Amino acid sequence: MRIKNVFVTGGTGKIGRALLPELIKAGYRVRALEFENEFRAIPDCRRGIETMPGDLRDPGLAQRALKGMDAVIHLGNCKENRERFLDTNIKGTFYLLDECKNSGHIRQFIQAGSDARAGIFYYPHPFPMDETHPHQAYPGYYAFSKVLEETMCEQYIIQHSLPITTLRFSWVHDEDDILAHLTLKAPNLGVPVWKDLAKTARQKEFFRKKRDGVACLVHPGGRPGLRHIVGIKDVIQGIMISIGNPAALGQAFAITGPAPFSYKVAADYAAKKLDLPVVEFECGYFHDFTHSIAKARSVLGYDPQYDITRIIDDALAFRRSGKKRTPLKYIG
Ligand SMILES: NC(=O)c1ccc[n+]([C@@H]2O[C@H](COP(=O)([O-])OP(=O)(O)OC[C@H]3O[C@@H](n4cnc5c(N)ncnc54)[C@H](O)[C@@H]3O)[C@@H](O)[C@H]2O)c1
Repeated sequence: MRIKNVFVTGGTGKIGRALLPELIKAGYRVRALEFENEFRAIPDCRRGIETMPGDLRDPGLAQRALKGMDAVIHLGNCKENRERFLDTNIKGTFYLLDECKNSGHIRQFIQAGSDARAGIFYYPHPFPMDETHPHQAYPGYYAFSKVLEETMCEQYIIQHSLPITTLRFSWVHDEDDILAHLTLKAPNLGVPVWKDLAKTARQKEFFRKKRDGVACLVHPGGRPGLRHIVGIKDVIQGIMISIGNPAALGQAFAITGPAPFSYKVAADYAAKKLDLPVVEFECGYFHDFTHSIAKARSVLGYDPQYDITRIIDDALAFRRSGKKRTPLKYIG
């Protein structure tokens, strides 16, 4: 399947920023949608890329954007936003899918899916869960939107045989995201929010005195929580091996790390490296979860490399480099 020209939405986001240089390196001609002049802030992304100003909410965008393109990688998304998600995520995806159908020349449409569609830790799951597990969004507009986006993709495959590949990423970690999640001091990233789980005097003191520590999530009774996330480089690998891969058409794949992690292993490792105490937080509503990546391994040859210690090592290296975290504009 020959693909040369790729239209990318969401090129300035967490995944897009890492993907664009790899697409260029691999020899693709890239047209990237530029929303709100964001590429100016990250000039490295722009090299060798045709940028096209536009808004996913514009019904006329898709026809202009897909002219001369062979494939679409759709990463644009406004995430948790009640006022915007229907227009941006749902209508925006619909306009692109429908233009793929009408134009007839798009050989592959890669949709950014998410394990939010399966509800991650909010519900009990089979262990591991695979691609056949039904949609079961966790509460909120973002997860709801990921289900609706995927459902549209599924229907365009059924109704119009559109060559769609859905890559369901789990929580993507770049820069020092994992430390922002695990440590108690700001910036705090992700859920659960440790401060909300602070019940004992010792736990509360960390926040009152603004002392840092490393959180270890435990179930009632003390068993550490188990969670499955993915490093940004594995996400990029998952996308790059899917483009132009006929075996990926009409399919959804879980794209996540090589294994789930135990909060105990993560907390002990990060605490040792940062010379901080481990603080346990009991969470009664957290359900362990892990994804099977057997399908991505066997069909795509996906071979993720970033387990929790490597993700933490990369985050520590990022902090040592003195680089500043990219501010999160769209909270998922
Ligand atoms: N980051 C994660 O942990 C994660 C996990 C699973 C799935 N995903 C999915 O991957 C995709 C990319 O995620 P990300 O974290 O890189 O996103 P991000 O929030 O970092 O970036 C979102 C991108 O969408 C663009 N965008 C927002 N509104 C737009 C509009 N109206 N018109 C055009 N562009 C618009 C922004 O400019 C930005 O480039 C999303 O679909 C997301 O749901 C992300």
